[in-house]
Amino acid sequence: MTLSDPLEPESVAPAVADLDTIVSLSKRRGFVFPSSEIYGGINAVWDYGPLGVELKNNVKRAWWRSMVQLRDDIVGLDAGILMHPQVWVTSGHVGSFSDPLVECGTCHRRFRLDELPGAEGLTAAELRDEGIVERLGLRCPVDDGPLSAPRRFNLMFQTHMGPVQDEASIVYLRPETAQGSYVDFKSVLGASRKKIPFGIVQIGKSFRNEISPGNFVFRMREFEQMEMQYFVRPGEPAAAAFEEWLPRRRAWYEAYGVDPGRLRLREHAPDELAHYAKKAVDIEYRFPFGWKELEGVHNRGDFDLSRHSEATGESLDYFDPATEERFIPWIVETAAGADRAAFTFLIDAYREEEVRGETRVSLALHPELAPYKVAVLPLLKKRAEIVELCHRIKADLQREVMAVYDDTAAIGKLYRRQDEIGTPWCVTVDVGSLEDGAVTIRDRDSMAQERVDAGRVRSIIVDRLAAARP
Ligand code: GAP
Repeated sequence: MTLSDPLEPESVAPAVADLDTIVSLSKRRGFVFPSSEIYGGINAVWDYGPLGVELKNNVKRAWWRSMVQLRDDIVGLDAGILMHPQVWVTSGHVGSFSDPLVECGTCHRRFRLDELPGAEGLTAAELRDEGIVERLGLRCPVDDGPLSAPRRFNLMFQTHMGPVQDEASIVYLRPETAQGSYVDFKSVLGASRKKIPFGIVQIGKSFRNEISPGNFVFRMREFEQMEMQYFVRPGEPAAAAFEEWLPRRRAWYEAYGVDPGRLRLREHAPDELAHYAKKAVDIEYRFPFGWKELEGVHNRGDFDLSRHSEATGESLDYFDPATEERFIPWIVETAAGADRAAFTFLIDAYREEEVRGETRVSLALHPELAPYKVAVLPLLKKRAEIVELCHRIKADLQREVMAVYDDTAAIGKLYRRQDEIGTPWCVTVDVGSLEDGAVTIRDRDSMAQERVDAGRVRSIIVDRLAAARP
């Protein structure tokens, strides 16, 4: 796969011009709140509200479906967040998992050097250069104070395990899920009886003490990853697997509704590659704050399994009975963020349009990702028989999908509320329903309405969901 998208940020408009639009919708409608808000919040940690947790769970389910359920060569794993501390020495994270940090001599605020205005696009060598701040004339973006020379800042969170807090009891909160899949490689291989090529996936929390978190849930200190490690024969087969996984992962975002024009690929320059990577390409999305990484696809070679094998004395090789060869597999990794993916789907689904002189806001979320699949609404809440029929339809739907009943406003307003949270279908019960047993299904995107028999609502919704599923 070639990198065919040399688009400049200016040539592609974001789905939402101002990030605040999404931040305020998220807070107002219960997608995402600042963590510990009544204590003033804690920087770079966010809580998912009732709708946000549904959206993120749906994103994770959709990913798991495409990576495990629909494949015969990939299995799941849920390794611990805390691992033997030596894992992180061997993996290179204790030595190399760091960002360049500079500090203002006046206000003592700390910044990631490559995020300062005027320092974007610096090479890895330049970011390590002690004289770079002076040479570029960089100043503190807050108070224009003098900045220190860059130093490396390790991003791993440390804690202590057990009752004694000393050097020997230090453990780390994992900064990636990947290492669990490497150290459990032999156990998973033995238990699953898979043959190479095969993959191990994990979804789980990771932690990074980011120097400059921000842009809402884009960069957090506690976040969730969805990572796959695909074990392949060394050399050319690994390169070929990389070329297959890259478009497949990009296509996954498109299948769930992300505008292909707002996705592009960016290959890491040799001096930008992470310590483990032979090749890395980011799938980037055009966020309101620029083109940024959504997911990374990496060819990690045999770095991880060789290092863990050397460090432990455990052989992590693979015997191929067909060719009678023994080798250390290479790894192609697809590393996505559950929060970043949910955030992207949310931004990309945002729509504003004029309808009868009013602004209609809707989230055109893929039905699989929408928090509620259907809302059941009474046209007249004063009529007990209408409300009762609504509850019966909703209870029937709830056995299969997330459904909600709402009667707290007039019907027009109820539709707008559901549009704004991305509910693909509304079912309305009116006086006529009591006579002919028919109800209205309204489509979120087209606003088209159709009459259907109340007894068929569940199967219609279930069929439509199945038809929409990639
Ligand atoms: N195992 C390889 C690895 O962790 P990465 O590019 O550092 O690679 C993979 O991270 C993905 O995890 C990113 O593309 C992003 O979606 C997500 N991610 C990384 N750091 C994050 C952060 N601070 N906040 C939210 N998501 C993050």
